[in-house]
Amino acid sequence: MKFVSLLVTAFLFSLTAQASPSQFDEIKKTGVLHAASEGAFPPFNYFKGKTLEGFEIDLTNEISKRIGVKKVEWKTYAFDSLLIGLGEKRYDLVAASHAITPERAKAVDFLNPYYCSGGVILTKSGGPQTMAALAKKTVAVAVGTTYAQFFDKGKGIEVKTFPKDVDGIQALLSNKVDALMTDKFVVLQLKKEGKLPGLVYSEIIEQERIAIAVHKGEPQLVAALNEGLSKVMSDGTYAKLSQKYFGEDIRCK
Ligand code: ARG
Repeated sequence: MKFVSLLVTAFLFSLTAQASPSQFDEIKKTGVLHAASEGAFPPFNYFKGKTLEGFEIDLTNEISKRIGVKKVEWKTYAFDSLLIGLGEKRYDLVAASHAITPERAKAVDFLNPYYCSGGVILTKSGGPQTMAALAKKTVAVAVGTTYAQFFDKGKGIEVKTFPKDVDGIQALLSNKVDALMTDKFVVLQLKKEGKLPGLVYSEIIEQERIAIAVHKGEPQLVAALNEGLSKVMSDGTYAKLSQKYFGEDIRCK
């Protein structure tokens, strides 16, 4: 009897051990890494026709190569559902310009940051570009971003959320909101593409450290990816990509 129950225990133990191999073991076994992004935050992640491109797409592909991954499978989702899907282990990582925040760090683990930037306030010329000037005004932000919470600190600022930055920009151009906050490099890119006619922007309002997110409790995956990241940062790959997309090196100083 004792022997049988021992056997049963051993069997159950082997089942649970098999049911949860580490995510990194799985990646090594299949050679495939499942990655998620948004596809609407140029030049970090965006679609050119049907192809997902961008700085953090290229960077993630390069990091993955360094740790023996043969293929990165990309899927795109709405920004505010990305970390939820990660919690459900629907993919191995999210590269979508998430800032490291204490709140997010409760739900996911972050790699070391791969760039530093911050939100700027975009308005029509002469529009409100400080917290004080924004009192009693309306500001557009993309849903789920750090910017969406930022204005809670201001007095009487009405925050309107939009699915994507481009929707907020439409609202700003048609005077439905007074301002919009998004990343400085996104604004520089849209400006370069002529998509911000007559709009002006502030300095960075709040600095952020941006990192790839992985499911909580996958220390081997975090260690491997951080090693890959540090390699691309030191072997010239990062510098080249950053130069290509931004004309400067945007790593955290
Ligand atoms: N850095 C900001 C944040 O952490 C904005 C990120 C937006 N990313 C995107 N793919 N739309 O919330």
